[in-house]
Amino acid sequence: MTAQYQVQDSVAIISLDNPPVNALSHSTRVGIADGMVRALDDAGVRAIVLTGTGNAFSGGGDIPEFGTPKALQEPNLQTIIDTIEASPKPVVAAVHSVAMGGGLELALGCHYRVTVKGTRVALPEVNLGLLPGAGGTQRLPRVVGLETAVNMIVSGKTMMSEELAGTKLFDCFAMDELLWKALKFARDAAAAGAPHPCVRDLNVHHENAEAYLGFVRNTVAASARGYPAPVKCVDAIAASLKPFDQGIKEERDAFLYLLTSPESRALRHAFLAERAASKIADVPVDTLTRNIAKVAVIGAGTMGGGISMSFLNAGIPVTMLEMKADALERRVAAIRRHYENTSKKGKLTQEDIEARIGMLTTTLSYDDIKNADLAIEAAFEDMSVKQAVFRQLDKVMKPGAILASNTSTLDVNKIAEFTTRPKDVVGMHFFSPANVMKLLEVVRGEETAKDVLATVMRLAKKIGKVAVVSGVCDGFIGNRMIEQYSRQAGFLLDEGALPEQVDRAIEKFGFAMGPFRMIDMAGNDISREIRKRRAVEQPAFTYSKTADLLCETGRFGQKVGAGWYDYREDDRRAYPSQQVNDMIIRHTEDLGLTRRKISDEEIVERLVYALVNEGALIVEEGIASKASDIDLVYLSGYGFPRWRGGPMQYADEVGLYNVAQAIRRYAKGYQGKAWQVAPLLQQLVDAGTRFND
Ligand code: 3HC
Repeated sequence: MTAQYQVQDSVAIISLDNPPVNALSHSTRVGIADGMVRALDDAGVRAIVLTGTGNAFSGGGDIPEFGTPKALQEPNLQTIIDTIEASPKPVVAAVHSVAMGGGLELALGCHYRVTVKGTRVALPEVNLGLLPGAGGTQRLPRVVGLETAVNMIVSGKTMMSEELAGTKLFDCFAMDELLWKALKFARDAAAAGAPHPCVRDLNVHHENAEAYLGFVRNTVAASARGYPAPVKCVDAIAASLKPFDQGIKEERDAFLYLLTSPESRALRHAFLAERAASKIADVPVDTLTRNIAKVAVIGAGTMGGGISMSFLNAGIPVTMLEMKADALERRVAAIRRHYENTSKKGKLTQEDIEARIGMLTTTLSYDDIKNADLAIEAAFEDMSVKQAVFRQLDKVMKPGAILASNTSTLDVNKIAEFTTRPKDVVGMHFFSPANVMKLLEVVRGEETAKDVLATVMRLAKKIGKVAVVSGVCDGFIGNRMIEQYSRQAGFLLDEGALPEQVDRAIEKFGFAMGPFRMIDMAGNDISREIRKRRAVEQPAFTYSKTADLLCETGRFGQKVGAGWYDYREDDRRAYPSQQVNDMIIRHTEDLGLTRRKISDEEIVERLVYALVNEGALIVEEGIASKASDIDLVYLSGYGFPRWRGGPMQYADEVGLYNVAQAIRRYAKGYQGKAWQVAPLLQQLVDAGTRFND
C-alpha cells in the first residue's frame, strides 16, 4: 500500500505516500480506503486529516496505470469520495505543493480544505485527452464559480492557491506548519459536530449559464480540432447545473468514453515520452552534472542569435563570438528588435529587455570566451569550418568546458577528433527559430562523457527545451526521417498529385504544415545541397527530379517569393502556382508515366509510413534508444499532431501488421525500391507487439 496511517491526538492522519507525486494508483487508493475504514471504526478517532508526503499532495490519477485494468479497479476515486462525504467524522484535506487532477478532486470530496500559499492547483486532465473523472467538473464550479471552473478545466491551466483565496475552494490558509493547522482545524470541526459540509450540496450560480455555456461550447468546438476532450469538458461542466447525481453520471460516462479514445492514448503517451526521454539507460540518474553558468555561442547568424536568446531568456549570460564586428552588431540589433516586438505584445517589460540584453556580450576574440562553461558552435555547415572552430576551442577553453556543435548533418565523431578532448564534445542540434522551437537533439558521439550528456539534458530542461538523445548518423533522428517523407512527397508528384493536394491531405491529417510549404519555408536550395551530397554518397538513392527542376527556375521558396507555391509581398500565404503545376505534369510525361488520381488516404499513408519505417531502422540501429524518443522528436520539432502521439504511436494504433502490409503494397508500385519493410517492424509484427510496448 502506498499510503500511511497514524493517529495523533484523536485525529487520524492518512498520508498518500507514492513518490514522486503521490499519484492515485490502485495501491494508493486502497491505502486511503483502508485508512478511512480504520479511522471510522476507531472510536478514539474524532476527525481525519488527508495529506501527501514529500513534494505533493497529489498529482492525480496514475497516468501509466491508465489503459490497464487496475485503473478502473475498486476502490475508484469516486467510491473513496463517497465514503468521505458520508463520514460522520470531519475529513480535512491538508493541501500543499501540488494538487492536480484526481488529487484536487480528492480534496474537493473532503469536508474542509486547508492549504498554504504557493500550492499549484489544477484540473489538467484535458491535456491528457481526458476530463476530470471523479467529480471535478461537478464540484469545482460549485466552489470557484462557473466561469473560473470553465477556464481551469477547459485549458487545464495551473493556478496558485492564493489566486483562489476568497472562493469556497479553501476554508483556511495556514501561514506555516500546514499539518499542525489542519489537525487543529479537524479537532475544532469535530468539536462543532456533524453535519459537515459537502461541496456536492452547494449550487452553481450564474446569471446566464445557458447562453454563457453555449458561447463557450461553440468557441471551444471551433478551436479543438482533433481533440474531443475540450468539448466534452464543457458538456460535463454544463451538467453541473443539473441535480448532482445526474451530473456526476454524465461526467463519468464522458470520462470512460475519453479514457479509451485514441486521442487520449496518444496524449498520455506524449506526456510519458517527454519524461522518459531524459532517462538514458547507461547514464545513472545520480550522475554528477557540470555547472553551466556562462555560455559562449560561436556564430552570429540567425541560428546563433536564436540559441543565444534561448539562454538569455533563462537568465544564463552569453558571449557571442564572430569574425566580423558588423555581423555582431547586426545580430545584437536583431535580438533587441525581437525583444521589443515581444514587449509590444505585452509579454516582456522594458526592464526584462534590458536585463536580457545586459547578459549578452560580444567579442571577436576566442580569448574572451575561454572561461565559458559551454561553447556552442553555430557556424557554417562545412567540415573545414567546424575543424577551424573546434581546433580553436580546444586551444582556449578551460578544462571541463563542454564543446558543442549545432550541426544538423555533420559527423559529431569527426568533429570531436579535431580536439584533444573528445569526451567533452557533444552535438546540440537546435531547430530554427532556436528561441521558439522546443526540440533539441542531443547528439551523443562515441566518446561523449556520461556527465556531459547528463549536463546537457538537464540544461535543456532549464532553457525550456524538449531534449532527445540521438546517436551519430546522417540527419540524426528528425532529418533522416524527413528525407524519406519528402522523398515520397516528390514521387507522389511524379505519379499524379500536385503540391497543394499533398499538403492539404497531410494537414487534414493534422500536421502543422505540408511538405511543400515546409520546404518553401526552409529553402529549396538547402534541400538541393542535401540531394547533391546524397548523389555522391549513395548514387543508387532515387528521388523525384521535380525539386531540381524547380531550383533550375530559381524558385528557392518563400525568401524569393516563389517556390512550390507563389507568394505575395503583402501576405505569407502559399498560392498554387500554374507554372509549377505545368512543370510537374510535363515531368510525368517525360518519365513516360500516365498521371493517376491519388487518394488523400494514400498520400497520408505514404508520407507517414515512410517516417515509421525509417524510424524503425533508427531504433534498430540504436540511433534512438526507444520509439517514444522518435515520437517526441516529431511532436516537438516537426509539427506532427500531438493527438496522434507521433509516428510510431500512430503506427501502433493503426496496427503494425497493417502498416507492413501497406509498405509491401507500395513496394510494388512506382519507385517501389524505396520501400523495404524495416526488419524491426517485421519482428514486431511477427511477435504481435508494438513499438511503444
Ligand atoms: N501519474 C503518474 N506519474 C506522474 C504523474 C501522474 N499523474 N504526474 C507526474 N508524474 C511523474 C512523472 O512521470 C515524473 O516521473 P519520473 O520522475 O519518473 O520522470 C515525475 O512524476 C515528476 O514529474 P515532472 O517531471 O513533470 O515534474 P514537475 O515537478 O515538473 O511537475 C507535476 C510535477 C506538476 C505534477 C507534473 O508532473 C504534472 O503536470 N503531472 C500531470 C498531472 C496530471 O495531469 N494529473 C491528472 C491525471 S489524470 C486524473 O487525475 C484523472 C482523474 O480525474 C480521475
